[in-house]
Amino acid sequence: MTPMTVHPEVAKALENFSLPEDLGFGHVMAPVMASCIYENGKWGQLELLPYGPISMYPNAKVLHYAQEIFEGMKAYRVGGLGPFIFRPQENHLRFNRSAERMAMPHLPLEIFMQASLGVTAYCSHFVPRRSGESLYLRPFMFATEEALGIKPSDKFRFMVIASPSGSYFSAGGLSVLIERFGARAFPGGTGFAKAGGNYAASLLAAIKTKQQGLVQTLWLDGREKKYIEEMSGMNFFAVIDNELHTPELNDSILEGITRKSIIFLAREAGIKVVERKMDIDELIADIKAFRCTEAFACGTAAIIAPIDFMADESGERYPLQQPEGKMSLKLREMLLAIQEGRTEDKYNWILKVEPKSFS
Ligand code: COI
Repeated sequence: MTPMTVHPEVAKALENFSLPEDLGFGHVMAPVMASCIYENGKWGQLELLPYGPISMYPNAKVLHYAQEIFEGMKAYRVGGLGPFIFRPQENHLRFNRSAERMAMPHLPLEIFMQASLGVTAYCSHFVPRRSGESLYLRPFMFATEEALGIKPSDKFRFMVIASPSGSYFSAGGLSVLIERFGARAFPGGTGFAKAGGNYAASLLAAIKTKQQGLVQTLWLDGREKKYIEEMSGMNFFAVIDNELHTPELNDSILEGITRKSIIFLAREAGIKVVERKMDIDELIADIKAFRCTEAFACGTAAIIAPIDFMADESGERYPLQQPEGKMSLKLREMLLAIQEGRTEDKYNWILKVEPKSFS
């Protein structure tokens, strides 16, 4: 494949950008973006462009039928090391699994990597450097065919945008509403895919969660509303009798790369990890009996976010005995030390990006 072309305005866009002190998550956008168009059955030339609005016809299929998928990755530059991207090949594999489910074309690895590495390389100066901060990379693909018939699009656009970001949640542990009524996903549906529509399906419950003064929604299985699934954008773990328990994967749970890495690291550290169907009422009983002492959400954006308490809509709360628990903190540090390049990368998980500039 031919190398990514660089638009003549990119140098100016980079020159005019400065990193604000206050980052938050996903608000500040990096000054460049990558773009590649799929039509006539093939991918075209990958381009690096200044970040800015894109034009699309109002009858583009994505706007009506939500044929869209995305990924989340992070490039770290803590203490000036790196930039390091964590396990991007895993994101590429998942991107193509999502593409298959959503009737979209596979994206070649070279395009995914050139785009993600290219954006990181040109923005390496703007990757924030404090621990826990990163350049959040958002690869995504959407249907652009201009026609209102319900059928898979025959035109798509793949892009990578990026956001210099701090932590996803503000300080303090998470409060979690158990959603016993609605469903985010169901057997045979799209829950395992990283498709925008899955996140749209979670938003009504997010409003309810916020109205109850809580932060995050915990989804149960769509059929019986009995077994814990995930947290829309994060996977769920609990420490029970000093073992790490997490819902076993099925087709309505997103297979988190952070989830997979935590399971691996925990087992390496001699912690017993149990992947199983987790009955919500059994978990509540375990919390009340102090058998379940810690619980946390994990994901690319969230890393590992300890849970303070879970709650039912009735207002009943189930506080965790050790919200900032030993195991959550230990696993978070083990993971982050690899991601930030502060420890030996024994498993070949990080990819070093060579910074690029015009000067
Ligand atoms: C991620 O962790 O990258 C996610 O996709 C979660 C969220 C920001 C949607």
